[in-house]
Order: sequence, then C-alpha cells, then structure tokens
Amino acid sequence: MAKSKAKQVRVGFIGVGGVARWAHLGHLSKWEDVKLVSFCDVNKEGVEKAAAEYGAKAYTDAKAMLDHEDLDAVYVCVPPFAHADQELMVAARKKALFVEKPLSTTLEKAREIHEAVRKAKIVSAVGYNWRACEVTKKAQELIGTKPVSAAYGYWVGGMPGAAWWRQQKMSGGQLNEQTTHIVDIARYLIGGKVVKVYASGAKGIAGKRVD
Ligand SMILES: NC(=O)c1ccc[n+]([C@@H]2O[C@H](COP(=O)([O-])OP(=O)(O)OC[C@H]3O[C@@H](n4cnc5c(N)ncnc54)[C@H](O)[C@@H]3O)[C@@H](O)[C@H]2O)c1
Repeated sequence: MAKSKAKQVRVGFIGVGGVARWAHLGHLSKWEDVKLVSFCDVNKEGVEKAAAEYGAKAYTDAKAMLDHEDLDAVYVCVPPFAHADQELMVAARKKALFVEKPLSTTLEKAREIHEAVRKAKIVSAVGYNWRACEVTKKAQELIGTKPVSAAYGYWVGGMPGAAWWRQQKMSGGQLNEQTTHIVDIARYLIGGKVVKVYASGAKGIAGKRVD
C-alpha cells in the first residue's frame, strides 16, 4: 500500500545491521507517518541491500548523509565501540535522535553524547525498550509508592552472536552490552541514584578469549 506523503517524519539510519533490521526497519516501514529516507553503514554491500529493500538512499559516510539529506530524525544503531561523532553530528544539526543502547564502551564518550544532546535540546531516546514492556507496567503498579531499598536482577541470554560482542574492548563486556537493561530497568522502577552495584559471573565460556 502506498504511503500518504502528508506529515511524514523523514528518517535516516546510521548502522543497518542486526537490531536495525529485526527491531526497527520492518516496523517503521509500515508506519504511514514515517518515510525511510537514507541509510548509512560502513558495510557497503549491506547498506546497499537494505536501502534497495526499503527504497532508501545508501551511504557509507554518516557526515555525507547528514549533509545531503533532509532528515527529521536519525536512528544510530552501531555497536558500542563504533560510537564516534554520529550523535554529536545529529545533535549539531538539531535532528531528533534515537540511539541504541549502550551509548559507548567508555563513560567519557557516553557523557559527551549526553551533554551534546542536552545542550541541543533535541527529542531523544535510547533503546532501553524494557521500559515499554507490559510486565514493567505491572511491576510499577505493584511497587506503587512503597519504598524500595534494594533491587535484585539477573540476565540469562544466548551466547554472543556478532564477532564484536565477544570482545570486551568492542562491546564493553556483558555488563555494558547486555545486563545494562537490568541496571536501566532497576533505575526506571525504583528511581534515585545507584549507590552500589555487585555482580558475579564467569569468563571465557564462549570459547577462546579474544579480549
Ligand atoms: N535494545 C535492544 O533490545 C537491542 C537489541 C539488539 C541490539 N541492540 C544494540 O544495538 C547495537 C547494534 O547491535 P546489532 O546487533 O545491530 O549489531 P550488528 O553488528 O548486527 O550491526 C551493527 C551495524 O553497524 C555497522 N557499523 C559499525 N560501525 C559503523 C559506523 N562507524 N558507521 C556506520 N555503521 C557502522 C555494522 O557494519 C553493522 O551493519 C548494539 O549496541 C546493541 O547492544 C539493542
């Protein structure tokens, strides 16, 4: 079905790998009020394939895409190690920003992104999607106004898939890459500042360690 062009939000993507494909592009492409305008990825073949599939323009350079395309909003879906200046460029151009978690492998970069977004006063969101789950709403109802003194959470997931995921320098490790959802949801439900975080785990299970 052809989309009506009235009031469409013009969206660009930086990074069109796993999560962009299985979580975002399929949904956005069905929304009447969204136009997928352009995609950028360092994987030329991958971005050309995705662009052809969704009727968007392909780029391998994020700055070139942001300079040439008239976008309202940009999704940044790159792995943790790859966050360089993408969010800063989006904020400088005052475009709305959606960025996949986690923001970076370092606190310094995450703070730099946070500061740029705060100063630019743009609409922004990070992909902490657990906040939108039905079970989270239920937990909020149950907690109500009761004071909570501690939170307990655990993560059981599959083995790391993409190659960068197994490398601590690139993913920031499992606490940064995966269990970040647990930390986020605890903060969302309970609020306040994190006073103490304790974790235990094992390393090297996915085969030969490469970090
Ligand atoms: N919110 C969620 O539930 C959820 C789920 C899955 C993944 N994620 C997050 O999304 C991010 C991406 O994960 P993924 O599974 O899509 O990884 P992926 O490796 O499948 O895809 C990442 C894509 O980014 C591209 N890329 C890398 N560096 C780039 C750069 N500098 N400029 C442009 N493109 C670049 C890669 O070529 C690749 O196509 C990760 O931070 C991950 O934690 C979030």
